[in-house]
Amino acid sequence: MNESIIKTIGVAFAVCLVCSLVVSTSAVSLRDLQKENKLNDKRIKILQVADIYDPNTSIAEQFSELESKFIDFNTGLTMDEYNNFNIDDYDQILVTKDPNFSTKVPASEDIAIIKNRENVGKIYILRNELGGIDKLVLPIRGYGLWGTLYGYISIEDDFNTVSGIEFYDHKETPGLGAEVDNPKWKAQWRGKKIYKDNQVNLSVIKGKVEEGDSDSSYKIDGLSGATITSRGVSNMVAYWFGESGYSSLLRELDYES
Ligand SMILES: Cc1cc2nc3c(=O)[nH]c(=O)nc-3n(C[C@H](O)[C@H](O)[C@H](O)COP(=O)(O)O)c2cc1C
Repeated sequence: MNESIIKTIGVAFAVCLVCSLVVSTSAVSLRDLQKENKLNDKRIKILQVADIYDPNTSIAEQFSELESKFIDFNTGLTMDEYNNFNIDDYDQILVTKDPNFSTKVPASEDIAIIKNRENVGKIYILRNELGGIDKLVLPIRGYGLWGTLYGYISIEDDFNTVSGIEFYDHKETPGLGAEVDNPKWKAQWRGKKIYKDNQVNLSVIKGKVEEGDSDSSYKIDGLSGATITSRGVSNMVAYWFGESGYSSLLRELDYES
């Protein structure tokens, strides 16, 4: 009797041990693969927003068409070097946790609710055949209803016209706020203008943009039933294209061109 209880416990213990070994071994061995898949997902979004994504070509090969640059938000200047960071590995979201590399956004200016902004960001440049800028891909982020939306906006060589928008991470509700991923909604962004009289004027409105509206190039249809997410997207555009974001970079590039 006793022997059979010991046996039963022993077998149960052995099964638990084997299972935990299998789970932890696969978790550890798949960690690198998961990391790589996450990186590739992000890279696909960057290629899509730059309008150069080809699913039949290797992601790394396509990604090498883009030039990565650091951007100092305090000066608006791009840089090839920053501290000891390797630009390919530089994670501007991660550095927002380190006060040496980021700055707390004062509540009165934190319209996108990002709390801390990296001192130096990372942008991507697509060059034309002459070596000039064809498109810029700029990371953006801001709070929606359930969490922060992370994405990219691409800008044409006039530094005011949107080429596209993509989000690679958010927590919004499918069918409501998650319609930020709807290709039809995203398609509206192409050709829209950001600045009017040097102020950010582009926003996601409530309802649909009316035909014949003389300001329609500054308006995007609201996401129906998702006013809070829509407002979040407007706020992140206002923040990242404002003085604390890319406005000095875009002014600088416009002046150079
Ligand atoms: C389960 C649930 C999920 C929701 N998800 C979202 C969302 O992702 N984004 C959003 O803006 N509103 C979401 N809402 C709706 C908001 O609570 C709010 O009512 C809405 O933003 C108001 O927008 P409307 O004026 O367009 O109806 C959700 C509501 C519920 C009950």
